[in-house]
Amino acid sequence: MVTEKTNLTGIIGYPLEKTLSPVMQNAAFKALGFDWVYVPMPVMPQNLETAIKGLQSLGFKGLNVTMPHKEKVLPYLDEISSFAKMAEAVNTIHFDGLKIIGYNTDGRGFLHALESDVHFKPEGKRAVILGAGGAARSIALILALNEAASITIINRTLSKAESLVASLKGRFAETKFEALSFDGNLPKIIDSTDLIVNSTSVGWEEELVIDPDWLHGGHLVADLVYIPQETKLLREAKSRGCKTLPGKLMLLYQGAASFEIWTKAQAPLDEMRKALNLSTE
Ligand code: ATR
Repeated sequence: MVTEKTNLTGIIGYPLEKTLSPVMQNAAFKALGFDWVYVPMPVMPQNLETAIKGLQSLGFKGLNVTMPHKEKVLPYLDEISSFAKMAEAVNTIHFDGLKIIGYNTDGRGFLHALESDVHFKPEGKRAVILGAGGAARSIALILALNEAASITIINRTLSKAESLVASLKGRFAETKFEALSFDGNLPKIIDSTDLIVNSTSVGWEEELVIDPDWLHGGHLVADLVYIPQETKLLREAKSRGCKTLPGKLMLLYQGAASFEIWTKAQAPLDEMRKALNLSTE
């Protein structure tokens, strides 16, 4: 039952397709018996500022922010966490008293998935990131903050990979950065890497962004695409002996971190996994 006392949270984006956050967050509130609700709210870009101020006036406790608002929302916030500042993107808003505070839990969510589900520590490892958008930036930052040895950004539009690398280069003593296009000498680069992350939007429709014959058993392959749960890239990787990390795990842990920011309670991970149809072993 939703009443005048119910605590309100939700997600804003446009269009709001394929979001699994409502089912995951509402399952978490229910599991802990919390009188909280999470609502999907499509917000057109021209309405972003009024939506944020309006949701604050309506007493919302928190929001998730998704495409295309993650970068655009920054000017409407009173405070921004240091990681969100570096990422230049916010995926979580906390309406904290009179203040609107922005966080970015994407990097943290990815690191949590790496460490707890496949026991991978970035320190000293070589990573290839496919794509150079907002998601690639968060992944590159969290890997560099955790002392990855090298990060190669491969993107269809080379200039975007180059500008991402230019903004990161020299800021992390332990990490070398490189930008390439898909025409570069990819088999060699990929052969010698430890981690491959697909952050492009290729994979929702059973397409592949790289030739799977370049993969071998020494690779960990992560895909941020989470529908289907096992993308063609992950299926092909698994069949070549790679460890794999499905995008739903990053969704899970970034959502758990948002939940904890809003409620100050520990997120019920098992219930959230079940809501996402992820195994709970
Ligand atoms: P996100 O915030 O999820 O990172 P984004 O900023 O829109 O989303 O980035 C999408 C990424 O997918 C980009 O790196 C994009 O490549 P371009 O910079 O060349 O556009 C990549 N991408 C999208 N469609 C692609 C395709 N068909 N082949 C290769 N890369 C693609």
